[in-house]
Amino acid sequence: MKFVDRIDEATRLKDALAREKSSLVVMYGRRRLGKSTLIKRVLSENDVYFLADRSEGQHQRALLAKVIAQVFPDFEKLSYPDWESMFRAVNYRTDKRFTLCLDEFPYLVEQSPELPSVLQKLVDEKQLKYNLVLCGSSQNMMYGLFLDSTAPLYGRADEIMRLTPIRLPYIQEALNLNAMNASQNYFLEKMQDKLNAKMGRCAALLGTEGKQNFA
Ligand SMILES: Nc1ncnc2c1ncn2[C@@H]1O[C@H](COP(=O)(O)OP(=O)(O)OP(=O)(O)O)[C@@H](O)[C@H]1O
Ligand SMILES: [Mg+2]
Repeated sequence: MKFVDRIDEATRLKDALAREKSSLVVMYGRRRLGKSTLIKRVLSENDVYFLADRSEGQHQRALLAKVIAQVFPDFEKLSYPDWESMFRAVNYRTDKRFTLCLDEFPYLVEQSPELPSVLQKLVDEKQLKYNLVLCGSSQNMMYGLFLDSTAPLYGRADEIMRLTPIRLPYIQEALNLNAMNASQNYFLEKMQDKLNAKMGRCAALLGTEGKQNFA
């Protein structure tokens, strides 16, 4: 499906990652809104995009080390006993600014509850030479991690982006439905309302995974 919309969001993300000092960017929003797609489009081959899962912390670090090794050769050859040593090792290897994205960040925190306070320490030291993008779909958890005044990372993000659904004209463009008649248009609007209001899913998926979402 053709990539549509997200011009403002992409600009905002690019700007945040190009600031003079390294940035901590938080992106959150409901499932299937296009968060991961947007991030991957903005990142370049010099950046690191890591999609976390629910496996335990040491295993996640080993997987992340392999992804980092694509940018910093042999990075995976060392073992990293904790998150702090890993983030510091990345800093050591960095000579020019790049971005490390941890997608599904709440999964990492589930397995490693100390992670937010480790990042708090690193961010507060202002020594990190690379940008961090932390992305998640669990809105409650993302809110609790960054917007709750008692949370370790509260007030640390340079940019907090809450992604909203793709707008209807762009959905039509993505689906190549420019020649829709009035009843098709009405139907699509209704479906979008239904998605937004009742199912909490993204209208961006009307094409590719729509059947699954409507079920
Ligand atoms: N701007 C866009 N234009 C067209 N299709 C898009 C766009 N953004 C996302 N999509 C499509 O929508 C689907 C969901 O996108 P994506 O996986 O990026 O969402 P997500 O918010 O990361 O979801 P999750 O929270 O489940 O990880 C994908 O099939 C993707 O190709
Ligand atoms: Mg995603």
